Amino acid sequence: MSDTAELLFDVYTRSDNPMLRATLAPVVADPDGFARRFYERLFERAPALRRLFPTDMTQQRMKLVQTLGVVAAGLDEPEHLVGTLQELGARHRGYGVKFAHYVEVGEAMLGALADVNGPTFTPDARAAWQRLFAWVAEQMRRG
Ligand code: HEM
Repeated sequence: MSDTAELLFDVYTRSDNPMLRATLAPVVADPDGFARRFYERLFERAPALRRLFPTDMTQQRMKLVQTLGVVAAGLDEPEHLVGTLQELGARHRGYGVKFAHYVEVGEAMLGALADVNGPTFTPDARAAWQRLFAWVAEQMRRG
């Protein structure tokens, strides 16, 4: 495929779901461990974002994992997630979140997924998550 064709067609589709589900297994096995890893990576790469979050991150870690669960459960009918994600995106504007911050969050999430999956997190798996994350962020941006 040429670069242009890839640019046009490299979007999340349901065919990514088996790969996404497989790489969620270690997250399901230790949700809080995953969440800790994720926020560690996020605040390491983007320390300025720390002040947007509460001092005590316990609740925040739970919310992160719950949301991942909601998205994972909705993968067979992603169109049903659109409304929820748009409302979530609108609330994020209120938290002071800018669209550029989604890049930081996306990279931290890919990094944390790579940490917990080890070699199972192949380049194909990473690409599937990138496509899903871009789709989620786009729905949130529209909200
Ligand atoms: C895939 C994208 C994201 C998802 C699924 C997500 C999910 C959530 C959820 C479920 C909450 C709980 C509150 C609520 O439901 O409104 C929340 C809060 C929050 N999120 Fe996100 N988020 C995402 C991206 C971001 C980004 C890019 C930032 C930028 C730093 C961010 C910063 C925050 C902050 C600051 C809060 C509120 C903390 C508080 O004061 O309680 N989120 N997020």
